[in-house]
Amino acid sequence: MRKFTTLLLVVFTTINMMSQTLYSPDKNFRLDFSLNSVGTPTYSLTYKNQTVVKPSSMGFDLYKAPSLKSGFSITNTEYKTVDETWDPVWGEVKTIRDNHNEMLVTLEQKAEQRSIKIRFRLFDDGLGFRYEFDKQPNLNYFRITDELTQFAMTGDHKTFWIPGDYDSNEYFYTTTKLSEVDASKVDGTGIGTHGYFAKNGVQTPLLMKTDNGFYISLFEAALVDYPAMQILIDQKNLILTSSLVPDAVGTKAFMQTPQTTPWRTIIVSDKASDILASKTILNLNEPSKIKNTDFIHPQKFIGVWWAMHIPNHWSWDYAHAPNIRLKDTDWNALLPQHGAKTENVKRYIDFAAENGFQGVLVEGWNIGWEDWSGNWKEDVFDFVTPYPDFDIKYLNEYAHSKGVKLIMHHETSASVTNYERHIDKAIELMKKYGYDAVKTGYVGWIIPRGEKHDGQWMVNHYIRVAEKMAANSIMLDAHEPVRPTGLHRTYPNWLACEAARGNEFNAWSAGNPPEHETILPFTRLMGGPMDYTPGIFEIKMDYYQKGNPCQVHTTLAKQLALYVTMYSPLQMAADLPENYEKHKDAFQFIKDVAVDWDDTKYLEAEPGDYITIARKAKNSDNWFIGGITDENARTAVIPFNYLDEKTWYIATIYGDAPDADWKANPMVYKIQKVLVNSKSVLKQKLAPGGGVALSLKKATKDEMKDLKKI
Ligand code: NOJ
Ligand code: CA
Repeated sequence: MRKFTTLLLVVFTTINMMSQTLYSPDKNFRLDFSLNSVGTPTYSLTYKNQTVVKPSSMGFDLYKAPSLKSGFSITNTEYKTVDETWDPVWGEVKTIRDNHNEMLVTLEQKAEQRSIKIRFRLFDDGLGFRYEFDKQPNLNYFRITDELTQFAMTGDHKTFWIPGDYDSNEYFYTTTKLSEVDASKVDGTGIGTHGYFAKNGVQTPLLMKTDNGFYISLFEAALVDYPAMQILIDQKNLILTSSLVPDAVGTKAFMQTPQTTPWRTIIVSDKASDILASKTILNLNEPSKIKNTDFIHPQKFIGVWWAMHIPNHWSWDYAHAPNIRLKDTDWNALLPQHGAKTENVKRYIDFAAENGFQGVLVEGWNIGWEDWSGNWKEDVFDFVTPYPDFDIKYLNEYAHSKGVKLIMHHETSASVTNYERHIDKAIELMKKYGYDAVKTGYVGWIIPRGEKHDGQWMVNHYIRVAEKMAANSIMLDAHEPVRPTGLHRTYPNWLACEAARGNEFNAWSAGNPPEHETILPFTRLMGGPMDYTPGIFEIKMDYYQKGNPCQVHTTLAKQLALYVTMYSPLQMAADLPENYEKHKDAFQFIKDVAVDWDDTKYLEAEPGDYITIARKAKNSDNWFIGGITDENARTAVIPFNYLDEKTWYIATIYGDAPDADWKANPMVYKIQKVLVNSKSVLKQKLAPGGGVALSLKKATKDEMKDLKKI
């Protein structure tokens, strides 16, 4: 008997020291998992036979409880292969393939009589893994004080980063080596809640490029009931470690088994465009929880919005009242420039109807703006009381009579307790007047005071709102939330988020440098669509206020291209209607461009430099192409080999004029029509900070006359 036990022990120890290996379906990726000498879970990852992640440890420190980081033995390993497809309610492609190999490792911590599981999924473009905690006598409630997941890099990679900030993602990107990251040096101008957690702390999604030309994207998927994961860089050893956003009492996560963490993802390719094409984040999210998705419809919209961001124009406030209680209407000074007036909104509805836009966002329609002064005040808005000059009943009826819907605005001022108190009544009001979409906003420090935008409590709040809106057939666009992690698969009514530095910054700050839009799709957009608000035609703020130095950092043509390169099922035509009236020919592209797609081709891309994407409109033969560049002029080389063969298409090219330049001469463009087929290749010059947009439709014989073939 003794002999037998010894034998068993030997086998057991051997299993523990041996690594467990998993390959991706195409065998390009290899994952190795093992326990080190003290029983710490350790993994490494190779791509095309080269190490991408060196042996990296995994685990957790807990509050007043033994840690979950060592003393483990492997008690079970299960393998599984999945190859299936699913159709998103909306998206960049009609059908998504989920093909991965899975390894589920069970680890026992004998001394504590606890176990955890780590589930690995290896796709052809990268890895996802998460921790799973089953319900068990010695692991019921616990608090995570630190997640210790490491990503040990093989070199001092070039990285595109923004500071790790608990409350904001509204930064432009800095490109440095990992060892040179310094979050304290970044310009923190913004909406008032900026602050880095460590000089060597960065936000995810983090994009890196290795010296041998690999692109590595580090992120997470399905962030539910857990704080966002940021990264702390050990700048000597080039080891990245997860750093969770804390809550008001300094804990990272309150856990109750059974529970899982979000997926940690490492997407890798030697082609930058593969990173953009990856569907791994979506595949790691749960299928839609919304049974009837008929109310969900991608759309373009306009809004009483840009007029409040540009200088010298409209205001959100109806009156100025620096110290007043909500519902007290003793306003001391009415503001003639209040934007959301019935007559203004009516004009916007007319414009939307005339030009085929489905939605009109109206901000500043409700009381509260008159005393929102950054005092961390709780009762700022009630979300149900219109200002006296906004006729909510009339305007909704008028909009509906024209086939348009108003989009509700719930700026919460980050007073989330207050929002949750009023949300049912707010939804009731929306239902009463027929709103089916809402834009939420979280500008300011969070209430409950001490919670963070990206902490566990807020992560749960955003999801609660998405669920509540879904239950009421309402679509959602969230500004200033935690950055998305693919949850739009589970809640497809959650059309878009801001969670990055949008176009609005160009109206009132140093703005977004021309490279910004070439980086966002590789970083922030990895988790989901962004409400970037493109389409600004009047580029310089000097137009509204002499001497104002702010400007959009692109050419006009690049603003058009963004409708294709910056994927979102919800796209705003953000400029003032009167500015579109002045450029009806260019505006035609915004009117035509689709917001939902059957197919997408990522034609050329390099983060920080350029992106060119072609997309096929949903249930249509029409294609749209967008190409953008950073501050450098370039020639985009656009193939058409994805078009139907033997068919000519009319391509309308909205390009930069020869003398265009984002700074010196941003508003000059040139529109031409040509014929292309699947063998054509277009060489198109992009100005510094410039771009090109194309719309393609099949040509009839008649239409082909007089057009040049390329
Ligand atoms: C910031 C949002 O990003 C912007 O779109 C909105 O207009 C303001 N907050 C006011 O809510
Ligand atoms: Ca914002």
